[in-house]
Amino acid sequence: MSKTYKIGVIRGDGIGPEIVTEALKVLDRVGSVCDMNFEYNEMLLGGAAIDATGVPFPEATKSGVSECDAVLFGAIGGSKWDSLERHLRPESGLLALRSHMGTFANLRPAVVYDELVNASTLKPEVISGVDIMVVRELTGGIYFGQPREYLSDHAYNTMIYTKNEVERIAKIAFEIAQKRDKRVCSVDKANVLEVSQFWRDIVTEIAKGYPDVELSHMYVDNAAMQLIRNPKQFDVILTSNLFGDILSDAASMLSGSIGLLPSASTGKGVGLYEPIHGSAPDIAGQGIANPLATISSAAMMLKYALNEIEASQKIDNAIKQALKDGYRTGDIGAYDAKTICNCSQMGDVIVSYIK
Ligand code: IPM
Ligand code: MN
Repeated sequence: MSKTYKIGVIRGDGIGPEIVTEALKVLDRVGSVCDMNFEYNEMLLGGAAIDATGVPFPEATKSGVSECDAVLFGAIGGSKWDSLERHLRPESGLLALRSHMGTFANLRPAVVYDELVNASTLKPEVISGVDIMVVRELTGGIYFGQPREYLSDHAYNTMIYTKNEVERIAKIAFEIAQKRDKRVCSVDKANVLEVSQFWRDIVTEIAKGYPDVELSHMYVDNAAMQLIRNPKQFDVILTSNLFGDILSDAASMLSGSIGLLPSASTGKGVGLYEPIHGSAPDIAGQGIANPLATISSAAMMLKYALNEIEASQKIDNAIKQALKDGYRTGDIGAYDAKTICNCSQMGDVIVSYIK
């Protein structure tokens, strides 16, 4: 009897529906090759949910996600919903979903494919061989801190971390480092912020339980600079919600395009798998988006949520092979391309490489 996995599917807005379609195509292919089935449970979030139900995170999605083995998500947001009150905006739906699912650990790998060393704005010798894992705290910090308020003459947010929140994300970073190059660089702003000094002290304490892993600390401004100057110095970067948001976008450009980078958000139970890029309203509906970040997120889902390591590797290998053979979407089209693909053609190419 082949296994059946229940996958929650949230297509979202903008290019979301297009890229998710390609990822499902690839999952179906890998399922038939590796003898497993995927049952897709489509759910609404963000702008699509606002249009259909009036709120960005409907009850049906809230209850639906906990009935799945994992959730695959595209992207949300668009100018159409930008003027809504903050708590009704698409982004609030995504934040509420992350919080509801308890996915406090966001893993964002930034890997430079050999085939694309020319695609980055940085010199090939600076980026070739880069393999960084950004471990971003995802359900705390200034994104969620209370109080927060927008008033007529001032506005404020609160950057807050509890001991438990820092401890659990630090442990994840050290465990990941143990399976990699055994180095964690914790990024903060401890020279200015109390919350960062607190973060640093707790991370230092947790590190004692992982004597095989080397811990260093870096201020976030320096880290942004070092990521561009010499990215190869990093193995695992451990950081808070806001700093991780910013640094992972910067790290993505090492790979040549933000359209390549996946992410996995894990924590209490069901995990959430999503590309790190947004809904790209400027190219939505044109069928030209790069689906590789979402396809790669599906590979992370197979690995981390379903423990289907072989199937996950088949997808990763297919992506590498496609890039090696010169298949490119427009965002990376200028670099050693032999065949320029649209979104669905790229999906077909990946499917054809999965044997
Ligand atoms: C991301 C996005 C989100 C974030 C937005 C859309 C709320 O930028 O996943 O990086 O800031 O976390
Ligand atoms: Mn972001």
